[in-house]
Amino acid sequence: MEVIIKTNYDEMSRAAAHVVADILNTKPNAVLGLATGSTPLGIYKELVRLHQEEGLDFSQVTTFNLDEYVGLSVLHSQSYHYFMHENFFKHVNIPKQNVYIPSGTTRNYQAFCQWYEQRIEECGGIDVQILGIGADGHIAFNEPTSSLSSRTRLKTLERQTIDDNARFFEKREDVPSYAITMGVGTILEARQIVLLASGANKAHVVAASVEGPVTSMVTASALQMHPATLFFVDKEASSELKMRDYYDWIQEKKPGAPQI
Ligand code: GLP
Repeated sequence: MEVIIKTNYDEMSRAAAHVVADILNTKPNAVLGLATGSTPLGIYKELVRLHQEEGLDFSQVTTFNLDEYVGLSVLHSQSYHYFMHENFFKHVNIPKQNVYIPSGTTRNYQAFCQWYEQRIEECGGIDVQILGIGADGHIAFNEPTSSLSSRTRLKTLERQTIDDNARFFEKREDVPSYAITMGVGTILEARQIVLLASGANKAHVVAASVEGPVTSMVTASALQMHPATLFFVDKEASSELKMRDYYDWIQEKKPGAPQI
């Protein structure tokens, strides 16, 4: 795991977007794993800018989103379908048929989840997975105690997650209690992972994920087992990292490091 500390949110988002752009420039038909939440908004903004101003091409890209609320239609303003359309898809040239987002309204969740996993495999697996992190250390909707080898499935949300996400809904009761989410095991199969965390309220789970034990109590800690994870954090989110100086030192020494 590599921790990259940036001075602010915009810088962090730009740096993370450039990792994705570099992959697209070498593999134009890359498969992207996409995330929702407020944190990835900056990365989408920069990718849209790269598309509109610098011609970054998405015409051969396929995308798989991490999760979706159960019970929300694709047109609901808080559905992740709607979020992705508004913040990313409507601004870039990804073919509609290449976009996969878990269905929150299927009648057969088990079959749907199996199909979703199968589609990821048939498309060659995910080249780069973007992730945020929940206040309880979850990735996607893999709440504490989720199996670290879990696959796409229906998940009951934790009360804290419902509270955290209530700010986007009219009232707390409107937040769905269930979601359909890629599993930790599904996420760990992505070739490259780019996680973003911003703000002081994420400092604790960032430290627990990077420097704590690997535990299903903090599902992001499973990324310690992944061979290519970049953990982008801003100053506030990095404040509880014990090895902070070392992470900065690694970045400083990078240009002079022997080429592998
Ligand atoms: C939700 C999403 C996660 C996201 C988390 C944090 O729970 N399922 O994928 O990482 O929110 O969101 P935010 O970035 O708004 O803090």
